[in-house]
Amino acid sequence: MALSRCSTFRRVGSIKAFVGRIALPVAQYGTTIRMSSSSSSSSSTTAEKGDSWSPKEYLEFTDQRGRPIKDLINFLYDNGVASPKRIVDLGCGPGNSTEALCEAFPTAQISGMDSSKEMLEQARQKNPGVDFVEDDIQMYAPDPETDLLFSNAVFHWLRRHLRIEAIQRLVCGLKKGGVFAMQVPDNYHAASHVAMRDVAYSHPAFAPYFRRFLKSGMESSLFKPELDRIESSWKYYNQLIPYCERVELWHTSYRHVLNGHADIVRWVRSTGLRPFLELLPKTGGVREDFENHYQRQLELKYPRLADGKVMLTYPRMFLVAFRGDKDIPLPQIQKSQERLARYVDMRGFQRMISSARKRLEFGQKGGPDPE
Ligand SMILES: C[S@@+](CC[C@H](N)C(=O)[O-])C[C@H]1O[C@@H](n2cnc3c(N)ncnc32)[C@H](O)[C@@H]1O
Repeated sequence: MALSRCSTFRRVGSIKAFVGRIALPVAQYGTTIRMSSSSSSSSSTTAEKGDSWSPKEYLEFTDQRGRPIKDLINFLYDNGVASPKRIVDLGCGPGNSTEALCEAFPTAQISGMDSSKEMLEQARQKNPGVDFVEDDIQMYAPDPETDLLFSNAVFHWLRRHLRIEAIQRLVCGLKKGGVFAMQVPDNYHAASHVAMRDVAYSHPAFAPYFRRFLKSGMESSLFKPELDRIESSWKYYNQLIPYCERVELWHTSYRHVLNGHADIVRWVRSTGLRPFLELLPKTGGVREDFENHYQRQLELKYPRLADGKVMLTYPRMFLVAFRGDKDIPLPQIQKSQERLARYVDMRGFQRMISSARKRLEFGQKGGPDPE
């Protein structure tokens, strides 16, 4: 059953891991795949110094990256979510998604949150009237009066074993009638992303920097550069339907026509490729070499089109969970609150994990794995 509070419709263009010898639930680690940030926030895994999200690079393909935002908003309109009063843009980035939300829902009280200082700075400039906070999704507790939690291209940065759990907690915290709407790239098996892993793990010049992530254990499960695969739609449905009246899922494969292979590199440089680059030395041209080899792989995988351009196929998954009027059993609400408390309690520990990750970044140390 769709929500129907709207009057007008507008369209817009517990796993275990070991630290030392102590076994701790992985759910308590800093387990988002982090772009390092210059933030000194004490809140989470975000608090790492070094390279950062680059709003400038991310904004290079604004139109193409904006399409799923519009598609998700249009779905909401078409399904009765046209006048939410309070909206939070989870992982608002440089504020593009927030801007689209402001345009689509002009009377709503909209706020944004993100873990990157650089991204937030940009978001504030772009959306002067909007309230933005720096926080980590895993610890973020939205205002209970929120009607719509919106998230574009964010949850794939969470490690797989935590992703659905985080969504469950957020959905569980929504008031009756509230909606959780998200889109994530689902491109683990896309040629663009397979090629990144191939160059990192198989090319003799780069494999020494990455081979430790091929071993089992905490280092690879938490600190490996590749983003984890997106779970099946069935899993999302089954894990969320106990909290919701209705759960909608779909995939869209966008076909972006770009000028050439170098554009594919530019596209992913600010997102999925970045954690690979951050593990390489900053000096000596190693990062540039990595990009060149990566581009050569892309040239083999993406044939030129009739006009000399290339087509980047970009599969994305959409999920909209309607809380509806469903009563959530008290034990589930308690479980969700306990999860949040656990994350918040673990901030100090997460900082320790962050600095462990920092020590792994050979780019800082200037040498590959000596093995
Ligand atoms: C690809 S950008 C998307 C930005 C924006 N939503 C958009 O559609 O343009 C991903 C954003 O997610 C943020 N992010 C990743 N993991 C996060 C976390 N655990 N908590 C908060 N923000 C996170 C990053 O800082 C980044 O700004």
